[in-house]
Amino acid sequence: MSQLKVGLAGLGTVGVAVVQMLERQAAEIEARTGRSVKVVAVSARSKGKDRGIDLSGVRWHDDPVALARDPDIDVFVELMGGDGDPAKAAVAAALAAGRPVVTANKALLAHHGVELAQVGEASNATLHFEAAVAGGIPIVKTLREALGGNRIERVSGILNGTCNYILTRMADEKIAFDACLADAQRLGYAEADPTFDIDGFDTAHKLALLTSLAFGTKVDADAIYVEGIRSLTLADLEAADELGFKVKLLGVAVRTEEGIEQRVHPTMVPKHWPIAQVSGVTNAVAVNGDAVNLTLVGPGAGGAATASAVVGDLIDVARGNGGFAFGLPVAALQPAQRAPMQRHEGGYYIR
Ligand code: HSE
Repeated sequence: MSQLKVGLAGLGTVGVAVVQMLERQAAEIEARTGRSVKVVAVSARSKGKDRGIDLSGVRWHDDPVALARDPDIDVFVELMGGDGDPAKAAVAAALAAGRPVVTANKALLAHHGVELAQVGEASNATLHFEAAVAGGIPIVKTLREALGGNRIERVSGILNGTCNYILTRMADEKIAFDACLADAQRLGYAEADPTFDIDGFDTAHKLALLTSLAFGTKVDADAIYVEGIRSLTLADLEAADELGFKVKLLGVAVRTEEGIEQRVHPTMVPKHWPIAQVSGVTNAVAVNGDAVNLTLVGPGAGGAATASAVVGDLIDVARGNGGFAFGLPVAALQPAQRAPMQRHEGGYYIR
């Protein structure tokens, strides 16, 4: 039985959940792939911390870049977060060494995805990022593989669990914004810096990846109009409720005559629409293609859901499934045009 030796950088909520899932499902994964998938080396910020997992026999690296270059790993898993170094340097080092990379890091890919995919293409190393968008919902593979034959017109949805959790509790329980955010942080949903969640940037990072996969454009987080939920009050949500709406933070990418319009903003959604009923940390992504329209709904954040996507990618690596990170070779991706945002009088509505 051959082994797939995993080097794992980052032992926070998601990293620990990945170790636990690989242990818990070891026999099943072996049966599915014909290989045993095993964490053999790790790096994390604090070495001595008790994380409730057994790391005996696992090599420890203080430097994630050294871990990425460790000649005795077959795949590098990056769960550190952050759009710069050390995450960027470590991912680039692994890819340059011809090692596949699995990452949940949407900020990194939203800013440097094209460059990193190019490094991977040059050395034949695949880049996998199902966990970077909408936690446990398999939207990356859905767009890249399953719906690859469609002409996509629109991708939209609730892409940030923290914001949806906050908006749901504010609307349903009348609990103030700050208290809801503190609970989301305690439950491990929020980013290390929660301003990324509430100011809409986390949604924008994920939307940038979906836009590239759906429309064959270069990932370009700077082409997105972004407005978060920080200024929403209980009174705003009550007023929307009285008018028959729920307020949701949506990411929307839509094909227009001027190019692909990308936007993130609080949106009033008619209460009877299915997306209005998506509550708590749950995410939802709707895809409109010429052949298929679908909506996927599922857990958007948290250790177990995100680990599920990481382990799914590891299973792909173990099976030798690869392909281009964004569905096309980097040279074939088109620049993302910044189409003008069409703003409706008096607020934002789905259209
Ligand atoms: N902070 C993110 C969220 C985590 O709340 O959705 C998952 O990407």
